[in-house]
Amino acid sequence: MKKTIILLATGVVLTFNACKVKSQQSSTSATEKNIEQKVDSVLALMTLEEKVGQMVQYNGSWDVTGPATGTTNEKKLEQLKKGLVGSMLNVVSVQHTREAQRLVMENSRLKIPLIFGYDVIHGYKTMFPIPLGETASWDMILAEKTAAAAARETAASGIHWTFAPMMDVSRDARWGRIMEGAGEDPFLNAEIAVARIKGFQGDDLASNLTIAACAKHFAGYGFAEAGRDYNTVNIGIHELHNTILPPFKAAAEAGVATFMNSFNEIDGVPATSSSYLQRDILKDNWGWDGFIVSDWGSISEMIPHGIAENKKDAALLALKGGSDMDMEGGAYETSIEDLIAEGKVSEELIDDSVKRILRIKFQLGLFDDPYKYCDESFEKKELYSKQNQNLSLEAAKKSIVLLKNESDILPIKKSVKSIAVIGPLADDKDSPLGNWRAQAEPNSAVSVLEGIKNHVPESVEVKYAEGVKLSTGERSFLKPLTINHTDISGIAEAKELAKSSDLVILVVGEDAYQSGEGRSQAEIGFLGVQDELIKEIQMANKNVVMVLMNGRPMDLSWSSEHVSAILETWLLGSQHGNAVAEVLFGKYNPAGKLPVSFPRSVGQEPLYYNQKNTGRPSANGEVTYSHYTDLDRDALYPFGFGLSYTDFEYGDIQLSQSSFTKGEEITASVTVKNTGTVKGEEVVQLYIRDLFASITRPIKELKGFEKIELNPGESKTVSFKIDEELLSYFGRDKQWVTDAGKFHLFIGGDSVNLNQTEIEFK
Ligand code: NOJ
Repeated sequence: MKKTIILLATGVVLTFNACKVKSQQSSTSATEKNIEQKVDSVLALMTLEEKVGQMVQYNGSWDVTGPATGTTNEKKLEQLKKGLVGSMLNVVSVQHTREAQRLVMENSRLKIPLIFGYDVIHGYKTMFPIPLGETASWDMILAEKTAAAAARETAASGIHWTFAPMMDVSRDARWGRIMEGAGEDPFLNAEIAVARIKGFQGDDLASNLTIAACAKHFAGYGFAEAGRDYNTVNIGIHELHNTILPPFKAAAEAGVATFMNSFNEIDGVPATSSSYLQRDILKDNWGWDGFIVSDWGSISEMIPHGIAENKKDAALLALKGGSDMDMEGGAYETSIEDLIAEGKVSEELIDDSVKRILRIKFQLGLFDDPYKYCDESFEKKELYSKQNQNLSLEAAKKSIVLLKNESDILPIKKSVKSIAVIGPLADDKDSPLGNWRAQAEPNSAVSVLEGIKNHVPESVEVKYAEGVKLSTGERSFLKPLTINHTDISGIAEAKELAKSSDLVILVVGEDAYQSGEGRSQAEIGFLGVQDELIKEIQMANKNVVMVLMNGRPMDLSWSSEHVSAILETWLLGSQHGNAVAEVLFGKYNPAGKLPVSFPRSVGQEPLYYNQKNTGRPSANGEVTYSHYTDLDRDALYPFGFGLSYTDFEYGDIQLSQSSFTKGEEITASVTVKNTGTVKGEEVVQLYIRDLFASITRPIKELKGFEKIELNPGESKTVSFKIDEELLSYFGRDKQWVTDAGKFHLFIGGDSVNLNQTEIEFK
């Protein structure tokens, strides 16, 4: 693999694997050359003021997601007409995007079309499972399909660009935005990010059915100290390269059109101004040629960060750092021309940013037809289509994880004649839509109660009691939730119902707006008076199936000991209730696996399976070893874990050879058998451990997985290829290396229950 050497200002020499970004390859296609010529010819016509305009993104005021710049709507209109705005966010629908585009096309000198961006995180009108939930499907084809469906609905509404996927490795359940990504593992994050990018962008950005994607947040945002959103991040260079960057590199290689930087600092440097991240790594070393949008106001936020005195300083830092577009920060539009006049930045730097932005606009086909997504009849037909509802149901079913199923209480037996559906979320038609719900109609999801009623056999009686309210008052993106901490008046009725029923379905967890941006929590248990409800119901009836709805790993320690079954259903989107019911009644056999570790207590956070060994690794509780004196140190439900209504038996690992060298590869195979009585799917997982390396390495790292389906009694052999690259890491010499030596190799159905063997790289 080709290495590139970068000499940093600090004098440190870093080498990286050069990646295969499309535009870097020698065989640049004729279309790409054509686009480059067009970009140059437009740039040549532009005044400096117009160039700066392309680097400005305004909020359309339809959906504010943070403190705005204070630029008035009148000023914004003026700037649009003059062609001094490159992009807008939060302008939705054919009608509104057309209106805004017209302002530019009919009034500005050069008529450079706007690019409209929006947070389409897990659907536009049809909601799919929240990204963390969908990751539990470990189904990359599914992730590509839901992203493609979301892209079609988005494009049908006149929007060209989504600020997704988020690929921040997140290991802290307290962080509210853990719901928005793919959890704690870099490999899984990378795989699903690529699938989602393919889904959004398709093979051709110029198609009327695809939109540009955005790899975010670059970088380290998921490592906020104490899980508090926007908080300080401190990660070392090895952690950065081995854990945080791999999904972003995969995204760049997959040709993602844009990147978004992040609010956080890393080791004293806000990411928005990090030329190491944005220029040295992303643009130079990875050779990526799209554009980087700042996060909302993150350029101006360098003032409160304390590294810029005013907006002009902030703009200078961000420009040098490689940020191409200022999202609602008001720094570029007010400062760049002065900075150039003062000789603080060169116009070449501006030209590079503008070229990147124009390139994506050309790739999207906006110069051919600025109104290309403006078709009301398509908008009407595509949004919330039957086809998308079916896909939403498929995705929802596949995302459910069965955490506990004592005495096979699930699927619900024929002997059950009465079911009590209890809990604050049981008939909630809104929470399944989750946070970051784009244009979803409030209260449009199928609730669990509705789903049960849709699927229950006629002979079974279903009754409902709310028990307690989880939250009160208005729910919205910018409003803190009011959790009910006092009202337990409904518990008595719920308890009576539980007593008189054969089985209880207890639907508890988190409100839609408990996770998401700015929704960090110090506690990860059942908020409000839910604990009381759970305990009372458990005392009233021993047959309790807990249906969990949530956007983060929760502390389930009490429930895992006391209730008979736990079904992790996340926030599954528009078809939530139908998917849950199909699993409860055995119409679908759950196959999801956790993309994050579920802790025994919040005190274990951040908790993740791919930890380091430490110099004192004993897990047996000896005093001077790395442990807690009051609790086990492992996860309650580990990464990769999930039960099924059937059982799978893993054979021993077979190796094609036990040692190998450069240019060779080993095939590791395992035969998996369905030993139960129903058809089921299993995610076969491959992990490795580098036993001796130049830096400390994790005790296990996911390196491959395959989802298989098996009929009762059927076996399948799953094989993984292991080569030098798969074993490599960013080492002490700041290079990607593979050490000669021994590695443990594990294959199994979760990150703990694994068969093990050893291989050697010579
Ligand atoms: C701030 C969030 O951090 C980012 O993810 C989002 O895309 C922007 N706001 C725009 O809404």
